[in-house]
Amino acid sequence: MKIKQEIQRAIDEMGFVELTEIQKQTIPLLLQGKDVIGNSHTGTGKTAAFGIPILEMIDFYDRSIQALIITPTRELAVQITRELTKIAKYIDGFDIVDVYGGEIITRQLRDLKKKPQIIVGTPGRLLDHIKRKTVKLENLRYFILDEADEMLKMGFIEDIETIFSYAPENKQTLMFSATMPEQIVRLAKNYMINPEVVTSVGADMTNQDVSQYYYKVNKENKTEALYRLLNIYRPNLSLIFCNTKARVDELTKELIDRKINCDKIHGDLPQTTRLDVLNKFHQGIIEVLVATDVAARGLDIKNVEAVFNYDTPEKAEYYVHRIGRTGRIGNLGYSFTLVSKGELKKIEEIERITGTTIKRRNIPSYERVMDVRSDKFVESVTSVIESQNLEKEYSTLNKLIQAKLPEDQIIVALLKMLDSEADASQNKDDINETFEKKTFKSAPTGEVERFHLNVGKRDGLTVSDILDFIRSKINIQSKEIQDIAILTEFSFFTVPKKYAQPILGICNHKKLKGRKVQVSISKKGR
Ligand code: CDP
Ligand code: MG
Repeated sequence: MKIKQEIQRAIDEMGFVELTEIQKQTIPLLLQGKDVIGNSHTGTGKTAAFGIPILEMIDFYDRSIQALIITPTRELAVQITRELTKIAKYIDGFDIVDVYGGEIITRQLRDLKKKPQIIVGTPGRLLDHIKRKTVKLENLRYFILDEADEMLKMGFIEDIETIFSYAPENKQTLMFSATMPEQIVRLAKNYMINPEVVTSVGADMTNQDVSQYYYKVNKENKTEALYRLLNIYRPNLSLIFCNTKARVDELTKELIDRKINCDKIHGDLPQTTRLDVLNKFHQGIIEVLVATDVAARGLDIKNVEAVFNYDTPEKAEYYVHRIGRTGRIGNLGYSFTLVSKGELKKIEEIERITGTTIKRRNIPSYERVMDVRSDKFVESVTSVIESQNLEKEYSTLNKLIQAKLPEDQIIVALLKMLDSEADASQNKDDINETFEKKTFKSAPTGEVERFHLNVGKRDGLTVSDILDFIRSKINIQSKEIQDIAILTEFSFFTVPKKYAQPILGICNHKKLKGRKVQVSISKKGR
C-alpha cells in the first residue's frame, strides 16, 4: 500500500512507527471505494484508519466539502480536526473546519468561508449549517460516523437520517467504533452499499493493555478509597467517571478539599470551559479530571495512566469506552472500579457482556498509604540533595547549629513545619466490604437505635459531615453508622444500641455546621 509522500512524512513525524491492524485492513478497502464498518478496540488508531485514506483521495483543487465526519461530542470533533490537521500538515490547499453546539456560530461561519474540504461536527449544529446553506453536501464523497453505535442510537439517529438525506447517493459511507453490537451492524447496513465489516474485537471487548480491578466499598467510603488508590498508584493523569453531573460536582469539591489537583467536565458547563479544562488536562496542568460519560467516547489523551469508575457504569458499553481512555496504542493502563453493594449486580453484568474478567482487589490500608507517602518524601528529599543549589539553606543551617540545637531535633522540627506526612485521609479504618456478611441492619430491632439530629440540608450538612462529627466524638466505625437521611431542617441516623448512651452524653450541645447540636432518640424508631 503506498501512501502519498506528504502524508507519509507527516505520520512519520507523528511517531507512527507502523500502521495498526485496523489501519492496515481498512485503508486499502477505502482506497478501493468500499463502504466499511471498522470495529477495533479503543486506542488502536481508528481516526487515522479513515483519516489517511480520505486525505489520500480528496481533490485539493476542488474547494467543496468532500468529507463529513460526525461525532457524538464536541470535544471529539475538535480532537479529530486536530489529528487530521496534523496528518495533512504537508498538503497544500487543504482546509478542515469543526462545527459544534455551544459555541457562537460566527467563528464557524467565518471559518466555513475558507471553503474547507472536510467538515467535522456534532449533529445538531451540522443540521443548522445545512439548513442555513453554509454547509453544502452536494459534492460529498465520504460520509463518516465515528463512534457509530452511539450515533445510531435514539436521540441521534433522527438527525443523522436528516443529514444523510442531504448527501448524494454516490458516496462512501464509513462507520467506526470499538463497540458494534450485532443489531447496530444490521441497522448500519441500511445506510451502506455492500459494506465490508472489519472486526478485530474478539471475545473480549475491552483493551487487554488495561489491568482491570474492582473494589467492594460502601458508598460513603468511596472518596477515601479513591484517595488511597491515587496515593498508592500515583498515575501521571487520571480520569474519574461518575454517573451524574451532580456527583461530578460533589466529588470535585471533595477532592479539592483533599488538595488534589483536579477539575471537572460535564454537559452543564459552558463550552469554552469544557474545552479549556480538557486542554489543561492534556498539558498536565490538571492531573485528575472528574467527568460524566461526555468524556468517555473517543478522547485520546496521552499519559492517562488510570481510569476510575467512582460509580460503576450503568451499561457494559460505557465501561468499555471509559476504561479505553487509558492503555492506548501499546501503552499500559489501569482501571479501578468502586463497587457498592447495590452495584454488585452491574459489575457482574459488565463482566458477562464484555467477556472480561475484572479482578477483585482490596483497598490498601491507611498505614500502607502512609508508608508509601513517606517513601516518596524520602525520594524527593534525595533528589533535592542531588540536584539543587543549597547554599542559602546551608547558611541557615549554620545559624541553627550555632544556636546549639541538636541536628535530629532540627530535622524533626522542620518535618513538622513542612507537614510532610500530612494527608487528607478522613478515615483510617479498613474500608473493604464483603457484602456477603449480614450487617447489623438486618439484626432484630432493639439492637440498634435511630437518632434525630437538629442539623440538616439547610445548614449545608452532608453524609460525611455526620460521619466525621460522630467519629470525632466517640469511637465508632463509619460503617456502623447507617441509614443516614438528611432532610431540610434535621436528619436521622442509626447506630448499634451500645453507642446510644455515648452519643447522647457526648454529642449533645457540641457544634456542627455552626449550630448547637441536639441529638435525641427518634420517636418513630426505625
Ligand atoms: O479511535 P481510536 O480509539 O481507535 O484511536 P485514536 O483516537 O485514533 O488514537 C490513536 C492514537 O495513536 C493517536 O494519538 C494517534 O496519533 C496514534 N497512532 C495512530 O493512530 N496510528 C499509529 N499507527 C500510531 C500511532
Ligand atoms: Mg476513535
